[in-house]
Amino acid sequence: MGLNLTQKIIKDHLLEGEMIPGSEIGIKIDQTLTQDSTGTMAYLQLEAMEIDKVKTKRSVAYIDHNMLQQGFENADDHKYIQTVAYKHGVYFSRPGNGICHQVHLERFGVPGETLLGSDSHTPTGGGIGMLAIGAGGLDVAVAMGGGTYYITMPKVVNVKLTGKLKPFVTAKDIILEVLRVMTVKGGVGKVIEYTGEGVSTLSVPERATITNMGAELGATTSVFQSDDVTLSFLKAQDREELWKELKADEDAAYDETININLDELEPLVAMPHSPDNVEKISNIKDLKVNQVCIGSCTNSSYLDMMKVSKILKGKTVHPDVSLVIAPGSKQVLNMLAANGALADMIAAGARILESGCGPCIGMGQAPATDAVTLRTFNRNFKGRCGTVSAGAYLLSPEAAAVSALSGKLTDPTTCTTDINVAMPDKFYINDNMVVPPAEDGSKVEVVKGPNIKPFPLNEELKDEVEGKVLIIVEDNITTDHIMPSNAKLLPFRSNIPHLANYCLTPCDEEFPKRAKANGGGMIIGGDNYGQGSSREHAALVPLYLGIKAVLAKSFARIHKANLINSGILPLTFINMADYDTISLDDDLSMDNVIESVKAGKVIVHNKTKKLDYEMNIELSDKELKMIIAGGKINFIK
Ligand code: F3S
Repeated sequence: MGLNLTQKIIKDHLLEGEMIPGSEIGIKIDQTLTQDSTGTMAYLQLEAMEIDKVKTKRSVAYIDHNMLQQGFENADDHKYIQTVAYKHGVYFSRPGNGICHQVHLERFGVPGETLLGSDSHTPTGGGIGMLAIGAGGLDVAVAMGGGTYYITMPKVVNVKLTGKLKPFVTAKDIILEVLRVMTVKGGVGKVIEYTGEGVSTLSVPERATITNMGAELGATTSVFQSDDVTLSFLKAQDREELWKELKADEDAAYDETININLDELEPLVAMPHSPDNVEKISNIKDLKVNQVCIGSCTNSSYLDMMKVSKILKGKTVHPDVSLVIAPGSKQVLNMLAANGALADMIAAGARILESGCGPCIGMGQAPATDAVTLRTFNRNFKGRCGTVSAGAYLLSPEAAAVSALSGKLTDPTTCTTDINVAMPDKFYINDNMVVPPAEDGSKVEVVKGPNIKPFPLNEELKDEVEGKVLIIVEDNITTDHIMPSNAKLLPFRSNIPHLANYCLTPCDEEFPKRAKANGGGMIIGGDNYGQGSSREHAALVPLYLGIKAVLAKSFARIHKANLINSGILPLTFINMADYDTISLDDDLSMDNVIESVKAGKVIVHNKTKKLDYEMNIELSDKELKMIIAGGKINFIK
């Protein structure tokens, strides 16, 4: 039996484990990317590991998320990232150079290489044949330091594309169709591999639109073959020497197959408030539109923008619509400026934004109360656009542009404009907004403004651990409860002491004060403690506050891993009734901790109540070593 493309790339990078779906494997990472919102923490972690120079083939730090500079905080972060990148061997993509995934595809992506990025849409790189995975900042920092990246060996889904898209039906409609079929949970533990004759009809940026939104399926990543189409894209980017052919073997096996006939696809839209809530646009009648946003890492390529400008040329945006357009990169913006397409957009009444994430992450352009906002982006969760009562609809740039003119959601196949655009033989290439790292970083000074605070590091696990109960919370506490993240707190992602003042405050406003007054202690949690996102701040901030252990009925998987990475003991009750006997301020202690943790069972003494609790601690061999070392960074050091 031959190998599929996913298995081939993994096999080429396999350092540990066996390629059996569901088992843990360790792979070598060739490239990394960070963006500013997660990057500050990743580089603070890299510094904490005391690694002089990154060991990857190529690492790039992008500034694209927190572009609004209403105070000094975001600007401080940008300066820190620029200097720390220069010192440690990382390329720096300056603010204005573009959205990380778009620029990475254009200027850095290499077929067959692995890419780990501290952004969930890193799988965009699958459009050029990379195995590109999104991860937490610490995992990316470890990969930059040359460390192995561990994942569960995925199952591989074959999405077989036949036929050819009709005019005004797009790559966005393909991924919306996949989302409709598989749902937002359907990709968990899987890689989505696209095959079939329809693949060769799609350009690299179109493929990247599809792999980008594979993140919305919950998939590990998505991948396309590297073929003649990939070669022409690389040629047009002056990087053809990096091309190699990559495809699945003829007799490759897959765990699942989904067939999509491109001839039969119609323009689709994801309705509020989930990317898998997909409908045919033609089925939606008379939906008045207030705002249209075109751009984001999903749909901001040169071809996307050219089609939009052709639709807008000589027309006027509907008076009730605010149309904003953010070309994905400086390369795209430069080309639109040079060929007049930008002028056509401006003449039609579009508001042009800088090349960055902007409204996609709620950085400006929040729509009006109860507004309908059409977006070419990848996510439409409630409130993400900045206005909780607004409804966000996800669709193709073509459908967005046509609707911006008509003032209501409009099936783009009704448009009569010729929007045929050929892929250019040569893109405009000017990498002057990418700063290469210093030859010798030893003398480079890293600039840390007052918003950049040191990264908290744990100590080796002690044999005796004690502390007061600082908070008791209920079931299903999310990482949003543990460490709220909102537009006010976002600029402080590199300032753990500031964030600490908000830790668990949605549950108990006094928690941070109590934790500081007691010099740390223990958290008592219910079932599914730490559900929600992979936000590592939800472990780092408790570490800063001196939390030594969380005693819970059960943990959400990723949060448990983050606690272990921070050297905080994740203990689970064996007897659930013990939870009810604990009160705030009880004095807890554990002795013979190291041997107990090795044995997987810890006795916690409640000295106040004179009770003993038997607790489980389930750790893999690697996690056990990390906990004993006091967290992942100490373990790696
Ligand atoms: Fe930026 Fe939105 Fe993509 S925040 S990286 S454009 S998902």
